Amino acid sequence: MTASSTSTLPVAITATGLTKSYGDKPVLKGIDLSIPEGTVFAMLGPNGAGKTTTVQILSTLIAADSGQARVAGHDLVRDADAVRAAIGVTGQFSAVDNLLTAEENLLLMADLHHLDRREGRRRAAGLLRRFDLTEVARKPVVTFSGGMRRKLDLAMTLVGDPRVIFLDEPTTGLDPRSRRTMWEIIRGLVADDGVTIFLTTQYLDEADQLADRIAVLDHGALVAEGTAEELKRRIPGGHIRLRFADAAGLDAATDLFGVAAPDREALTLQVPSDGGVPTLRAVLAVLDDASIEPEGLTVHTPDLDDVFLTLTGHSGSGHSGSGHSGFGHPGSGERAGAAAKESIR
Ligand SMILES: Nc1ncnc2c1ncn2[C@@H]1O[C@H](COP(=O)(O)OP(=O)(O)OP(=O)(O)O)[C@@H](O)[C@H]1O
Ligand SMILES: [Mg+2]
Repeated sequence: MTASSTSTLPVAITATGLTKSYGDKPVLKGIDLSIPEGTVFAMLGPNGAGKTTTVQILSTLIAADSGQARVAGHDLVRDADAVRAAIGVTGQFSAVDNLLTAEENLLLMADLHHLDRREGRRRAAGLLRRFDLTEVARKPVVTFSGGMRRKLDLAMTLVGDPRVIFLDEPTTGLDPRSRRTMWEIIRGLVADDGVTIFLTTQYLDEADQLADRIAVLDHGALVAEGTAEELKRRIPGGHIRLRFADAAGLDAATDLFGVAAPDREALTLQVPSDGGVPTLRAVLAVLDDASIEPEGLTVHTPDLDDVFLTLTGHSGSGHSGSGHSGFGHPGSGERAGAAAKESIR
């Protein structure tokens, strides 16, 4: 059991050792999860990593080959009906019926949830308002844009008042404005309703914007887990940039840290760093001991793109092997990469 050690919140989703194969092809190779209630968890991964498969298993659509999971307090296998009653799923491919109007789609969902007529209408009207779809409520969905369709899709999920919501790539294909609208809606669900969100995405900024914790899935295995900040700190490419008042200060510091490439024009020196406070403190202590006073400093942590590319190894990251030899990095980029592969639960 991976009881959450980082949080005292009750847990909405736990999983241990989930596996799934199609034929002789392993698709999930033992997934462990622990997701506190009222938080957003993002599963980040490239095409074919196994994101949709994970969502399908956790939402009882397909069975895992092995492993256990509890969702909203219920065992996935023994209490599948109770899990279904507590969750909402918005799939990668929309469940919206194009020939019906927005309102009809919502009323159909209300029927499926056995709400009586009046309650169904009340809830549909409320959701149309909330998602800014009231004006188009009576129009067939076939006339909707992709963004409107996504909103309706999510609204349909909410008819059943779920405590845990699975969103499989909720913003893929949306323009930047519609994505932002969707993000606001998702944030609102957590802040106002206290629901737990499990979302999958290929967009690093989406995970960065929304998620309390992020897991990186690659070839069916979780290769890292943590907050966006934790993940970024584990990737080579971070540095502390020290700015000096004069060349003397810069030269002294350059000698001290033994790093190459001071910028003599800007009077700055980049010291490799994991971006953590202890490293920052240590750098300042070294300067202090030598009575060198920097004029200013900035801390750069790599962005999630760096993390993703490094961890999934799907591209020659511009940061790898960048010659960082110094401070705050006990080893080479390779070692830091290996460290990043450890789960940081
Ligand atoms: N029903 C199935 N039969 C056989 N193979 C499948 C089936 N469903 C998924 N797979 C395979 O499992 C792997 C993971 O698929 P999955 O849909 O979970 O990936 P994903 O991370 O959601 O990808 P994407 O980002 O493209 O949506 C893929 O290699 C896929 O081909
Ligand atoms: Mg998918």
